[in-house]
Amino acid sequence: MDKQKRLGILTSGGDCPGLNAVIRAIVNHATLTYHWQVLGIPYATQGLLERKAMPLEMHGMDLRGIDPLLSMGGTILGSINKGDTLAKVDEIVEGYHALGLDALIGIGGDGSIAILNHLAIQGNWQFIAVPKTIDNDIALTERVIGFDTAVNTVIDAMTRLTFTASSHDRIMIVEVMGREAGHLALHAGIAGGADVILIPEISYSVVEVCQHLAELRDRWGRKFAIILIAEGAHPSNDAGEPMAQPRPACGMGQYLADEILRCSAYPVDVRVSVLGHTQRGGIPSALDRLTAAAFGKTAVDLVAQGQSQQMVAWQCGGVVAVPLQEAIAQSPLLVSPQGQLVQTARGMGIYIGQMRD
Ligand code: F6P
Repeated sequence: MDKQKRLGILTSGGDCPGLNAVIRAIVNHATLTYHWQVLGIPYATQGLLERKAMPLEMHGMDLRGIDPLLSMGGTILGSINKGDTLAKVDEIVEGYHALGLDALIGIGGDGSIAILNHLAIQGNWQFIAVPKTIDNDIALTERVIGFDTAVNTVIDAMTRLTFTASSHDRIMIVEVMGREAGHLALHAGIAGGADVILIPEISYSVVEVCQHLAELRDRWGRKFAIILIAEGAHPSNDAGEPMAQPRPACGMGQYLADEILRCSAYPVDVRVSVLGHTQRGGIPSALDRLTAAAFGKTAVDLVAQGQSQQMVAWQCGGVVAVPLQEAIAQSPLLVSPQGQLVQTARGMGIYIGQMRD
């Protein structure tokens, strides 16, 4: 009788909603369709290094018949987003073989899947990647796990903050995640009704922000405003070039608040809300669950077909496999300043920084 195939799963990098839903989809499909044994590797490369694995079974976490994995945020496998273990590359690579794995599916962001791909090549692993990140900056895929939920979390916060801002005639600055890529701020800003969206890819002028706020007030009678700023957004100098300054310790939201208070032509009341890790937590949205099911199922099928160094991706309405190396080479995928969503924001009368050639 053939030896039962042993499939490993790990989650790597910053967590996000939907990781457990991917794990569930992989376990269910691998068990039901292929009758494989599935092992969860705790804390990504740390687990490989320490030769740790836990059996994952269909309905393994059922509570009175309810499978919590579908709706649970975070990851039951734990994750790491530091490269501490990488000093011991050979031992990590060998961990795959020591655990008797025949294949590994890694759910990670661009940094994690690049590291795992490198290890997979070195160790001759059969490896498939599933893209996840609230930053939405992985190339060759129109969807990643976690982004949709994070966008909805930010929109929910904006809705709440809009009411309190309007009650007190305040400028509310909402700082969201995104050190290099502004997809989260851009999507949530348009969908949540921001007046100003500031992203790392397009530098902004404090003077122009203040002019925009004055116009909202003087022309449209708006006494409050919502500014959505990504943590990696930066102001420009007088020549319109991004200012080469380190990220202020107080955070970009507070920095901007201080600058608005300094530059505004009329008295303003400004408050800052830093949404921080609330954006990474929470119950996955319907879209993230659906994508998790489709990605998990396809990742298992790719393993069954003997494929390796592929990433599952969403393109033109369905799941496809793309060469992992190509996805890594083109990531992080930044917001295009000429792109449709930036033009949409401008068309909606949102200030989104300056475009100077
Ligand atoms: O990469 C995703 C991300 O959410 C970034 O947007 C953010 O800057 C970072 O993770 C924060 O990570 P942590 O606090 O977990 O190190």
